[in-house]
Amino acid sequence: MPGTATFEERVRRRIRELEQDGLRRVLQVPSGIDLSSNDYLGLANHPRIKQRMAEAVLEEGCGSTASRLLRGERAILSRVERRFAAFKGNESALYFGSGYAANLSVLTTFLERHDTIFTDAHNHASIVDGIRLSRAKRIKFRHCNIDDLSRRMRSAPPESQRFLITESLFSMDGDFAPLADYSQLCRETGTVLIVDEAHAVGVYGSRGSGFIEQTGCTEGAFLSVDTAGKALGVCGAFVSGPAWAVDYLIQRARPFMFSTAPPPSIAAALDASISVIEEEPERRQRVRDLSAGLRATLTERGINIGRSESQIIPIILGDNERARVVAAELQSEGFDVRAIRPPAVSPGTARLRVSVNANLTETSLERFANAVQRVTQCSTVSS
Ligand SMILES: Cc1ncc(COP(=O)(O)O)c(C=O)c1O
Repeated sequence: MPGTATFEERVRRRIRELEQDGLRRVLQVPSGIDLSSNDYLGLANHPRIKQRMAEAVLEEGCGSTASRLLRGERAILSRVERRFAAFKGNESALYFGSGYAANLSVLTTFLERHDTIFTDAHNHASIVDGIRLSRAKRIKFRHCNIDDLSRRMRSAPPESQRFLITESLFSMDGDFAPLADYSQLCRETGTVLIVDEAHAVGVYGSRGSGFIEQTGCTEGAFLSVDTAGKALGVCGAFVSGPAWAVDYLIQRARPFMFSTAPPPSIAAALDASISVIEEEPERRQRVRDLSAGLRATLTERGINIGRSESQIIPIILGDNERARVVAAELQSEGFDVRAIRPPAVSPGTARLRVSVNANLTETSLERFANAVQRVTQCSTVSS
């Protein structure tokens, strides 16, 4: 009978296999110039947001003590949900402890076994996992390819309820989904559109509410999932849409029901963060300008940045080990960039995921581009 010794040996073997494939991860605290966080607007350290959060801890305590369905509910949290819904142009919003939990909740709550969901091949793991758990029929379409999507829609079972889920700005590619086209296709085919705005909220749209706003698709998107740990600088995520849909999430979303409510101080920080986004539009303009500059410089120098059109700029290297070595060399020069390898991206497309934030300077980005050019051309790291 297998025992704990054989179990330990099996786990150790799996770790060795990861090592051999260049896929073993290590935890590394930040050091050097931030070119890898999702703190696009530089709000994680904003004095006004920190102050509000600290005051709320002193006023309301550390923990919420229970699920929101029990004693964990707080007025400050439902207030910030109402504020976020208005910010997105939606009727209602619900806060979740993470974007991962939000996507899992949306997909497992609304999808039923005989439904069909169309999903972009590059969608985030939280979407992939949510669809798996929902047990609906999953139809993957080619990344951002509306022709492939339309073809697959035509051959899908006509009688089932259909959904389309996409990131608006793709987390590892830095390109945008053709949201206006999707929105129209969904209208024509009776498909429910769900949009993950994780990397777009705070940065795009004239009010900073995201790419749905920028493309004028508020009416076409049924639900929006907006993480609050990236440009908003705090943590968690809002799901927003019609009030009846948000009510159904409260009734049925298991990650919401069976989990302790967030600390009230998070709601205070989020409220301050939304105020900063509304009052300091120059932050989003700055991140977009800096990103455009870096994309142009890297492209001029022959660096492969894929289809990036945003503050997320992949430097595609292909081989896992090469990505690890290039990242390590750039880190040793003071740039905090990280290698991204499967399963976060497809095999053979390992990359550095460079992300630009509003606190960077043109000079540091110029130095970074020089370093990337030198390191990627250096013979010791060629694949
Ligand atoms: C597109 C996308 N959706 C959802 C998530 C999950 O959000 P969170 O980190 O808040 O769990 C991420 C996080 O990286 C993401 O990139």
